[in-house]
Amino acid sequence: MSLNDYYILAIETSCDETSVAVVRNGREVLSNVVSSQIDTHRQFGGVVPEIASRKHVESMTIIIEEAISVAGIGLSDIDTVAVTQGPGLVGALLVGVVAGKSLAMALDVPLIGTHHIAGHIYANHLVGDIVYPSLALVVSGGHTEIVLLESEGKFRILGRTRDDAVGEAYDKVARALQFPYPGGPYVDKLAQSASEEIVLPRSWLEPDSYDFSFSGLKSAVLAEINRSRMKGESPDFSALARGFQQSVIDVVTTKAMKAASAYGAQQVLLCGGVAANRGLRERLAGLCAEAGLPLLIPPHSLCTDNAAMIAAAADLKWRRGEFSTLDLKAEPVFSLEEWSVKD
Ligand code: KG4
Ligand code: ZN
Repeated sequence: MSLNDYYILAIETSCDETSVAVVRNGREVLSNVVSSQIDTHRQFGGVVPEIASRKHVESMTIIIEEAISVAGIGLSDIDTVAVTQGPGLVGALLVGVVAGKSLAMALDVPLIGTHHIAGHIYANHLVGDIVYPSLALVVSGGHTEIVLLESEGKFRILGRTRDDAVGEAYDKVARALQFPYPGGPYVDKLAQSASEEIVLPRSWLEPDSYDFSFSGLKSAVLAEINRSRMKGESPDFSALARGFQQSVIDVVTTKAMKAASAYGAQQVLLCGGVAANRGLRERLAGLCAEAGLPLLIPPHSLCTDNAAMIAAAADLKWRRGEFSTLDLKAEPVFSLEEWSVKD
């Protein structure tokens, strides 16, 4: 432990993972404890907000203690407390916000309200150096965005989904293909093993748009299933999974690479739970290699919701002394651009 070292304790409760991490000097993960509620929500086919909040309350103090213990430090070593302020489920966010405020007050250290998507993006800073301007493709269960990082901590949203997030579309299609929640990984696996492909539409939207829309694609999958059943045939799930996956990958990677080129990005960052998708990783890696752009992708444990990524984003504010006050509120709808660091 050197005199210049600093320790961020971060709390993440925006959806169905309760997570607490301790990160040294903004980049070195000492602990990143994640307690997933997936088994509880699976029986309902999706996240039930009220249950998520209750589960966060049950596990919060235990997870904080575990994160401190795994990190091998004492509570008094913590220099600042970061907490996900939004976006997310309001009741779930509230649990983390209250815990974060209490801890910051008890330890008499600054509090840093942190943006969840900034966390997903800056998870990349835990695995490599970010070169600016950088282009981030955020693909998760709740978000799908193309974000330009003009400089460190300056976010500009170039495009976002107008309806379902990619992960949400995967989960809905997975349900139609009779997989349990969350079904993204099952669809990915089935798509990889398919020998045939049912070609489905690509939703490009307006020619100059970096926005996305996935609900039409999801409906196309459902329509194919219905069409087969009405003809008395059994639908070819693997060919459908492949068709769905190819359409998603074509659209998200084409738009991301177009944005990277248009804005002179020096690097591409992939993040969010869907970054685990093998087809997506392979295609993006190929396109980045062709374009001569380095690509960063965090390991799976840092792609799905976790508190280490929140510490990585909070570090932007810690180093600039941009702290929150104790009247900070959970923000279910929260602007990433406004959360950017000040000049
Ligand atoms: O980032 P995340 O943990 O949660 C949110 O912040 O939303 O992402 C979870 C999402 C789920 O929708 C899940 O089905 C999807 O990521 N996912 C995948 C894969 N692994 C997880 N989707 C497609 N292919 C995968 N291999
Ligand atoms: Zn997330």
